Amino acid sequence: MMRIFPAGKISGTLHVPGDKSISHRVLILASLAKGESFFSGLSTGADVQSTMNVLCRLGTKIELDGENIVVTGKGRFAYREPKTVLDCGNSGTSARLLTGVIAGQKCFAVLSGDESLRSRPMKRVIAPLSEMGARIWGRKKNALLPLAILGTSLHGIEYHTPTASAQIKTAILLAGLLAEGETTVTEPAPSRDHTERLFHWLGFSFTKQGLTSKIEPSNIPAFSMAVPGDFSSAAYFIALGVLHKKSRLTLKSVNLNPTRTGFLQVLQRMGADIRIEITAEGPEPVGDVFVEPSALQNVELTAAEIPSLIDELPLLAVVGTQAHGEMRVTGAKELRVKESDRITGIVSQLKRMGAGIEELPDGFVVEGPVKLRGSALTSNQDHRIAMALTVAAYLAGGESKLFGEKWVTISFPEFYRLLSQISKE
Ligand code: S3P
Repeated sequence: MMRIFPAGKISGTLHVPGDKSISHRVLILASLAKGESFFSGLSTGADVQSTMNVLCRLGTKIELDGENIVVTGKGRFAYREPKTVLDCGNSGTSARLLTGVIAGQKCFAVLSGDESLRSRPMKRVIAPLSEMGARIWGRKKNALLPLAILGTSLHGIEYHTPTASAQIKTAILLAGLLAEGETTVTEPAPSRDHTERLFHWLGFSFTKQGLTSKIEPSNIPAFSMAVPGDFSSAAYFIALGVLHKKSRLTLKSVNLNPTRTGFLQVLQRMGADIRIEITAEGPEPVGDVFVEPSALQNVELTAAEIPSLIDELPLLAVVGTQAHGEMRVTGAKELRVKESDRITGIVSQLKRMGAGIEELPDGFVVEGPVKLRGSALTSNQDHRIAMALTVAAYLAGGESKLFGEKWVTISFPEFYRLLSQISKE
């Protein structure tokens, strides 16, 4: 349990650690390359550690060399059969992406995870991978972890995903790299496109037109990358900087990929004073974000913008409690199958703090502004709920007690240290 008191002032300049989604992807691609790849700024969270642990069990060498992580891959089909169950911990990205890659290897492996991960839907990747020839068995009629995967040769397919999910898309595209022929994936709406940017940057036989990505088996070169700061981690500080009456914050070197920054666009639409300076382009745009306190007006979100701020929705609920008028979020039923049911999680806790917020089947409706009350709160073992509630507690009157704050280590172990750096009496 952590006691949280409202801060008198927020000010400073921060570097947030490397992007979690990009970190998973570069590690997996490097494990399939032949030779040494070098990465700086990888996410230090437990989720990315889960991917590294699984890759090591599959025979990839991963070492620390000064500031860099060095990954030595042995080629596209060189994974070694693991002797024990591969543990993906709390990480849906690890489980889904690695299922796609292992399906096309020459070994047998069993993937599992913690209690939350073992309840999350896997059929969404097993179904298309099975169409590609994959041999995968799971609990509850092939719906849940643990999964037993008997690697085999795959063939390309044309697939339309019913859900806009970068994890589903990426699992299929990674399998497509190992399959015979062409694999195409079409999504119903754009989800984060880190995989496509990497495929393009690494010179794969890859094209993207509208919502359709097409990959052919490609040679995977060893490569190096400085992973940019995680926008989803920066978002907690951006929200605090906008909502706190006495604040001045700068966030340096943040990934500003437009498929990730929906939260920024919504805040700006609400009237937030946020300035962006792009400092680097390609394969991902990176920049500095300058934030000032702002009076906000609630807005309605469209279903099309949900994937670009899916991980920021609990935080957006907190923002909604502090803005004038009504915010209505619909089309976000995916939130119910994240690390926890994030709709019930955030709505129940903000209600305890006195917020005017109600659940919808696929979102929530919140009415503001309300002065939140310091309260006893729970993260429900979910890192994003823990960080969103910490922001709420920073704005509340009086002390809050947050149970399950340790779950922030899943994506952002540095969160409370950086928060204390910018918190002034
Ligand atoms: C991720 C995609 C998103 C996101 C998750 C990371 C990724 O999930 O919620 O935190 O790295 O591909 P979905 O693609 O399933 O929406």
